Amino acid sequence: MKKLLVLLIFTTLFIQCKKEESKPIELGLVTDKAMVVSAREEASKIGVDILRQGGTAFDAMIATDLALVVAYPFSGNITGGGFMVYRTKDGKTGALDYREKAPIAATRDMYLDENGDVIIDLSTKGALAVGVPGTVAGLFAVHEKFGTLPFKTLIQPAIDLARKGVVVTKKQEARIAEYEHLFTEVNGKKTLLNNGWKENDTIKHLQLATTFERIRDHGKDGFYKGKTAEIFVNHLQKNGGIMTLEDLEKYEAKWRKPLTFQYKDLTITSMTLPSSGSICLAQILKSIEPYDIVKMGQNSPKYVQLLTEAERRAYADRAHFLGDIDFVDVPVDSLIDAVYIKNRMSDFTWDKAGNSDDISHGKIIGYESEETTHYSIVDQFGNAVSVTTTLNGAYGSKVYIEELGTFVNNQMDDFSVKPGIPNMFGLVGNEANSIASEKRMLSSMTPTIVEQDGKLKMVVGTPGGSTIITSVLQNILNVTQFDMGMQESVSSPRFHHQWLPDNIRLEPNSFDEATKKRLLELGYELDESASTVIGKVDAILVLPNGQLEGGADPRGDDTADGF
Ligand code: GLY
Repeated sequence: MKKLLVLLIFTTLFIQCKKEESKPIELGLVTDKAMVVSAREEASKIGVDILRQGGTAFDAMIATDLALVVAYPFSGNITGGGFMVYRTKDGKTGALDYREKAPIAATRDMYLDENGDVIIDLSTKGALAVGVPGTVAGLFAVHEKFGTLPFKTLIQPAIDLARKGVVVTKKQEARIAEYEHLFTEVNGKKTLLNNGWKENDTIKHLQLATTFERIRDHGKDGFYKGKTAEIFVNHLQKNGGIMTLEDLEKYEAKWRKPLTFQYKDLTITSMTLPSSGSICLAQILKSIEPYDIVKMGQNSPKYVQLLTEAERRAYADRAHFLGDIDFVDVPVDSLIDAVYIKNRMSDFTWDKAGNSDDISHGKIIGYESEETTHYSIVDQFGNAVSVTTTLNGAYGSKVYIEELGTFVNNQMDDFSVKPGIPNMFGLVGNEANSIASEKRMLSSMTPTIVEQDGKLKMVVGTPGGSTIITSVLQNILNVTQFDMGMQESVSSPRFHHQWLPDNIRLEPNSFDEATKKRLLELGYELDESASTVIGKVDAILVLPNGQLEGGADPRGDDTADGF
């Protein structure tokens, strides 16, 4: 304990010495060896317990993920999908894609009426919005390649938590209250979460525990075949869905080569297609690299302007070029080519705001709050894991399958249901991301690992739909360019631009009046109303002395744990 205190003081002083200003520094949890940062205390603790038993970051990933299904049904899931980026203790990087797929029977225009207009809510609410889930296949793929403890050991804590129950937090009470009417509307009756749950109540997930037990006892087939699969498919089909047993049986997670690129002296590895995350992140960082952002200052008018203009161009490219690489040709190398990026920024001027109509085509609006969930893990051996997983919207499609004890994703909305028409994140898309049988929908999830001097520096990621990429971006810059600690960076206010709608979204009451005034003078439209938060970043920083500092986002119930 005494040792930890001394280290804490040392670390605080170290970070403070690097600062010019003397404002108090917010320091996150600091540990010597290992850490898990996730959206819920229970999940972080379960992950750390696995590490204490001698498990690796990969073992902890499986246990943490399953614990989030219980403790954080908002996004934690066995019926959604996600991505994992990892770096082993030997410095090898890789990525796993367990993104949902369109069902076999899906068609390009399945969400359009006879006039070719989008049928409101069809791709976001109810059984037709559901993509073929990838999470369970993903967890088994991780276990097969990297697991050191038996899967039964890794799933048991989630089963026990589901039976014991999870205590409702204040933020969770508010989230459930916000969506309760939709649970009733979509399911035609009250379900587990429709109970007026209040802070400190305990929610037991008994049906979910039984579903977990089938997975524990029958492995991947406990989800994709047999009783679970039959209940899943029957429920969706009875409610207008098109999922079949064949869809579930055919699902496979895929190991992918992540995109690795340089920004100054950093080597950044992040998720590639079907996630747009790494490509957009690389484009934005390469666009701003020639500028002295440290001189501008974090969140200064010039800094916000520069990042906005780089983001505008990257998101315009995202809408046009990006889709499932197994289905469409995407010119990834050209999109991150130095000459291409230079040309892309050549019409940028400090004198006035850019205009998204001049950068590309399309119109729009639409927004959403923090969806999805991210967790970061570093183990005592030096392995690092960065995972973002999702049901897409809050509680996914709102379809709750009582017999399985779980909500189901609405990931089909991440396709471009009609070119030029925005999805729930206000993102527009093109042919590259149109719906096709068994295609994976484009994602913004950006689980990322940063290295410096050949060593692990940072594990970072966040939920937030379209804002994921820019939240990861700002945290990398906060830490590596503005010398912030991990917690200070995570807590720092964020902003976001995504080409369309053509405005800068700011976290409310976080940016000073002078900055906002200057941006308005330049012609930017500012939006402080769309959402109270941008992203919910959970990250780990390796400090110069080798200790780990967690950044757990105070915008949620996120918690760092470790030893
Ligand atoms: N569903 C959010 C994303 O994949 O970007």
